[in-house]
Amino acid sequence: MTSITINPAASITGEISVPGDKSISHRSIMLGAIANGTTTVRGFLRGGDNMATMSAFRGMGIQIADDGEVVTIKGRGLHGLTEPLDFIDCGNSGTTIRLLTGLLAGQSFFSIVTGDQYLRKRPMKRVVEPLSRMGALIQGRQSASLAPLAISGRPLNAIGYDSPISSAQVKSAIMLAALYADGETSVREPSLSRDHSERMFRLFGASLKTFNNGVTVRGGVELNGQEITVPGDISSATFFIVAALITPGSELLIRNVGVNPTRSGAIEILRAMGGSIEMLEEREISGEPVADILVRSSRLTGTAISGNVVPRAIDEFPAICVAAACAEGTTTINDARELRVKETDRIAAMAKNLRLLGVPVEESDDGMTITGVDVLAGGSVESFGDHRIAMSLSVAALVSKGGITVSDTECVATSFPTFFQLLEQVARG
Ligand code: S3P
Repeated sequence: MTSITINPAASITGEISVPGDKSISHRSIMLGAIANGTTTVRGFLRGGDNMATMSAFRGMGIQIADDGEVVTIKGRGLHGLTEPLDFIDCGNSGTTIRLLTGLLAGQSFFSIVTGDQYLRKRPMKRVVEPLSRMGALIQGRQSASLAPLAISGRPLNAIGYDSPISSAQVKSAIMLAALYADGETSVREPSLSRDHSERMFRLFGASLKTFNNGVTVRGGVELNGQEITVPGDISSATFFIVAALITPGSELLIRNVGVNPTRSGAIEILRAMGGSIEMLEEREISGEPVADILVRSSRLTGTAISGNVVPRAIDEFPAICVAAACAEGTTTINDARELRVKETDRIAAMAKNLRLLGVPVEESDDGMTITGVDVLAGGSVESFGDHRIAMSLSVAALVSKGGITVSDTECVATSFPTFFQLLEQVARG
């Protein structure tokens, strides 16, 4: 296990780009594989999670070439995948396993999906239950609530599904299964989660309608290969946004970041805390809003976070917790129970680590209350094998007394392999 010690910084300055969006990268491979013709992807994220998706499709007979700049996928149409010879290892990636489960449910072959020790603890019933209603046959540990999942592909029927949770992985799994169902399948969620699948389905020519917090997909419509450019991942950018906000004397420009409104909740929250964050050169690339983001260090104050903004900021809470720890006053987070079933229980993990850094934190079932301090104590903290916990604590170290050692940092490579290099590049002093 690799530990890394990050020292305090005098400021965070310069200009960077962050790697491609993880969610969009996954979807580009999946839709490219089942489209007719060639799909090219620029800006693809070569992190552990996306490489798991890539090798899953190679294992189902799809040719995927990567020259280091462009990923080229030779799509074989809706019915062109072949039965994998072995189980599909999704590694640490919840998006890979859940979206694939939806896609595989309607194939004419058998497959098994599984992943690492963390993924095998994460809830799968949320996709198995609606897919079973569509006629899918999926078995697995604990009544198919945990991976490995064994999927006996078969014809599916369309359903209307009211999801009890706002989850893009659930929505997207059903949308992918819907491509193989007879008729129109609808999914509605309590509040809108990231809509990358909707945008990319449209780009590839799927028959799709969106409505308030929901989407309808017609089955049996073939897709056509596309040329896709993936924007920088706002979830990765957020670590640097928080780093620049909390470190005095900072000014950082992050170029080419995806600012889809279903993903930019953290920017709203950090602005509400007093953060100086400007969006420059707003534009659209491959159906996704993109901007350059200029951040200056700011005096932050506590805020109350709950409701519809939560799914739009769901991956950013570890970084938001660090901003809250450095803010004046108290920040409350509610309606964020989903954080307990991410790569680790992120409420428990951040509460434990922030307390180690001298920050008063109270946990609740669906959130936490954090009271900001003047200076974070230094010391040793744990990543719990979760990339976003590791990166947010590395950012906290920049304003700590004497630095922070973060344990088990290999996990950072699942979403942001160049994180530590970029941090070194912009940290002065
Ligand atoms: C993702 C959806 C979110 C998010 C994850 C990526 C996606 O998960 O946390 O990192 O690409 O669809 P949930 O759908 O479980 O909220």
